[in-house]
Amino acid sequence: METGILVLASGRGSNFEHLLAEHARRPFRARFVGLIVDRSNTGAETIAHRAGIPVGTIDFADFPNRKEFDAALFSAALDFNPGLIVGAGFMRILDSVFVGHFAHRILNLHPSLLPAFPGLHPQRQALDKGVKVSGCTVHFMDSGVDTGPIILQKALEIPEECSEEELTEMIRNLEHVLLPQAVRLFCEGRLRVDGNRVRILEEMTY
Ligand code: GAR
Repeated sequence: METGILVLASGRGSNFEHLLAEHARRPFRARFVGLIVDRSNTGAETIAHRAGIPVGTIDFADFPNRKEFDAALFSAALDFNPGLIVGAGFMRILDSVFVGHFAHRILNLHPSLLPAFPGLHPQRQALDKGVKVSGCTVHFMDSGVDTGPIILQKALEIPEECSEEELTEMIRNLEHVLLPQAVRLFCEGRLRVDGNRVRILEEMTY
């Protein structure tokens, strides 16, 4: 059965754009039912409009507190009736009601090798610590900060002289490959969560 994918994004949307490009190249068993952004005038929104994908804007600035924002976000997500939610550069933590309802159906992308460097500015955190290797992670989202069972990771070596901008760009290039891979595995029903571990099942051949 086809999965309805809802994308959550806060920024320029390059990962969303690459997901759509991969879907055009080799379709997922899915269709994109919507995009939710948490602020106006994002690049992600422009990409959705261009692709004819409905956009919901739940602007954090329009709400008096986090509780009301969370309730509006949850309600907007339910309206799209998604089978899969993909956080592609979504810079908010989902509350436990949201995560509980969509348990193991929310993917999140993060620009570090989790559990190292969760939260904001992970590339800067990695450079500050002087690590030699970094990368990106796709994991199932829970209500923690970049926690939840890890699905896929991709690593790179950090060059001797590397700025935060350069590392961000290098990691982003990896993300553009990794996120579509994880979405495809999900849509093919090949991810099994077993405690903290995600097992990737063999491809079915008919
Ligand atoms: C990506 O690097 C993604 O990993 C990061 O936001 C960027 C969005 O880029 N997400 C997080 O940091 C979430 N904790 P994009 O808007 O170009 O896709």
